[in-house]
Amino acid sequence: MKTRATTAELVAGMRALHQRDRVRLVEDPFALGLCGWHLRLLIKVRPVSWFLLNHVLRKLRPGMLGVLIRVRYAEQALEAAIRDGIAQYVIIGAGMDSFALRRADLMEDLQVFELDLPEMQAMKRKRLKRMGVERPPGLHFVAAELGEVPVMAALAESSFDPARRAFLSLLGVTYYLPTDIIAETARSIAEGVAPGSRFVLDHLLDDASALPEHREARTALRKYVAKRGEPMHSDYSPGEMCELMAGAGFRTLEAITMMDLGDRFTRELGPLPFEIPGIFACGLYER
Ligand SMILES: C[S@@+](CC[C@H](N)C(=O)[O-])C[C@H]1O[C@@H](n2cnc3c(N)ncnc32)[C@H](O)[C@@H]1O
Repeated sequence: MKTRATTAELVAGMRALHQRDRVRLVEDPFALGLCGWHLRLLIKVRPVSWFLLNHVLRKLRPGMLGVLIRVRYAEQALEAAIRDGIAQYVIIGAGMDSFALRRADLMEDLQVFELDLPEMQAMKRKRLKRMGVERPPGLHFVAAELGEVPVMAALAESSFDPARRAFLSLLGVTYYLPTDIIAETARSIAEGVAPGSRFVLDHLLDDASALPEHREARTALRKYVAKRGEPMHSDYSPGEMCELMAGAGFRTLEAITMMDLGDRFTRELGPLPFEIPGIFACGLYER
């Protein structure tokens, strides 16, 4: 029986734990169900999860909390895109993302395409079945391995319409890809989507841009995920990521560190229930 959680499950686990906080960046009643049995058990037994987060995984916390900031940032940008008439959302490396389930309010006029490895999607289908959750009609699974198949070629196998504008996200994924695959992925998207399409991503900050007091957490996170067989390959300053995206054909709408996003969300929601991670940044781009 598998007990080792993938990073996609750990992300869902963070969203599940966050549901206990009074101030929430994301409302996610599905996150716990999307975790494997081992992780679900650890989360459900409160003293155990408290001990894990505050002691065993303490050094990793800044890294883990980036999950909550990036999802709020991406979905606020998506909501703005929907208001501007965009009706297709491509989640690249969707993992155990629950957007299509928890945002039924947006699904009526939206087609969502989740792209991930076939084995990850098989696991997700099983979990949804166990949870008794029906796949919404507007949610489509597109199986593909980035680096082997360009994003647009994978989407061509689905009902995605390249003639219509789209919003695409790449969250929690760039760190695991080498620069050439990130560039190739961005180029494939820029060349294939309709002008006016938007693209959001997050990335690890390089050593010089990370908060000095979180550099240790950055090293701890890298070691932790490498041990789980998902080594991190790349980090950038916000400026370097803008250059990479410009080379692929994207105009930067915003490049922002999570420190600044933490301040923005604190102004919106009041004091956040956690320390703002100083090792990540987000970027929003337009074709
Ligand atoms: C840390 S998870 C992030 C999940 C989700 N985006 C979120 O924020 O909740 C990274 C995801 O990227 C997927 N992934 C990593 N490398 C990939 C590749 N080469 N092709 C397709 N998917 C990949 C993994 O399977 C996993 O689901």
